[in-house]
Amino acid sequence: MHHFQYSGPTLHCESVELAAVAKLYGTPTYVYSAATMADNYTRLARGLAGLDVQLCFAMKANSNIAVLRHFANLGAGFDLVSGGEIRRVLAAGANVRSSVFAGVGKSEAEIRLALENGIFAFHVESEPELARINHVAGTLGVKAPIAIRINPDVDAHTHAKITTGKSGNKFGIPLKHAAAAYEAAAKYPHIAIKGVQMHIGSQLTSVAPFVEAVEKVAPFAAELKAKYGITYFSIGGGMGIVYKDALASGEQAWWDAQPIEQRPLTPETYGAALVPLLQPLGLKILLEHGRFMVGNAGVLLSRVEHLKRGAGKNFLIVDAAMNDLVRPAMYDSYHEIVPLHRDSSRRALVADIVGPICESGDCFAKDRQIQEVGEGELVAFMSAGAYGYSMANRYNTRPMAAEVLVKGSTFELINARETFEQMIAGEKIPAFLK
Ligand code: LLP
Repeated sequence: MHHFQYSGPTLHCESVELAAVAKLYGTPTYVYSAATMADNYTRLARGLAGLDVQLCFAMKANSNIAVLRHFANLGAGFDLVSGGEIRRVLAAGANVRSSVFAGVGKSEAEIRLALENGIFAFHVESEPELARINHVAGTLGVKAPIAIRINPDVDAHTHAKITTGKSGNKFGIPLKHAAAAYEAAAKYPHIAIKGVQMHIGSQLTSVAPFVEAVEKVAPFAAELKAKYGITYFSIGGGMGIVYKDALASGEQAWWDAQPIEQRPLTPETYGAALVPLLQPLGLKILLEHGRFMVGNAGVLLSRVEHLKRGAGKNFLIVDAAMNDLVRPAMYDSYHEIVPLHRDSSRRALVADIVGPICESGDCFAKDRQIQEVGEGELVAFMSAGAYGYSMANRYNTRPMAAEVLVKGSTFELINARETFEQMIAGEKIPAFLK
């Protein structure tokens, strides 16, 4: 469920007409719905009722400081992966103390910054990393809280670039070596064992791989509780969202119309399957969902530059490009694309929807059917709230897009479009070229 819907002919985010946002701030612009994020948070918490849950929003999905502040206000901590993300949490006025630090290559400086700010735990991916964390904690005269990431060797049945829990992935320590890793951790003077962690992949659309992974790791978590007194089990993130029918999936009626066995994963199904497996452990359960929290809470607004009609092929050229939303180019991912002004008298158009960047990969959709739209008209890329802006870049010297947050009938700019001067601020001509 989300809060993007047509009201009459015009697409709204909550009570705000999206065309008004585009008029004020231009395009391409990301627009987020605060109510959708809050609903997602609440539904996930309710779905897991009966457990002691701490939600650590995977901020790599969307790290705008306003979004972080919104989740912090709701009670979330963060799953963060860099010194930059620690600093974003601080800039948002939020708490690092309920956040966890993941990633296979944490630098000494990042480990120090996390310890100085009271990180809840490091999610450790290897034995050399354990030694490094112990060393840095020693120089600060503190004990570093840790959990080791277990790689449960489960197939998440998702895109190869975002599956993480198979034995061939770079992540975590195989279950059969995990006991030895904990024994090694227990010997370090500046390490405090706090928990155990896993994460099997992203955009999972069925609950079965989660169940398989939890069933594999839960007995080990129970052993760790008995042996080291661990207090938590993080089961990672990874809940998928609806991309194909994104707009319609905002309505309860759409969900009701899906056959139960084909219904996309919901927090209710996820909770119903996992709560009985997790409850007997008596541990705090950490969740690290990113995409589920924000994916359907954001759209990317874009303006049509041209409709180029070709022999046997039409191209709808829009002002957003692969630098603004890289997912289609990178993962062949599908984003629904809809007009901001719906007009049933218009013909349908079949076109490749592309950006202005000079390479063929800058294509959002092939042979997509969309209501005919022309130069200057506006479209929205649905389900763009996760891994949209956060993966954007400046390729072709295109500035980073603007971001806007909507709440009810109000909206505010939460990130101004980048200027050319900001883009080249760090660059200079060396003396030997002058
Ligand atoms: N925890 C860990 C340790 C992770 O590596 C990730 C995501 C998450 C949690 C959050 O996963 P989520 O709930 O968002 O699925 N850029 C890709 C997704 C990469 C995910 C990387 N790790 C995309 O656009 O599909």
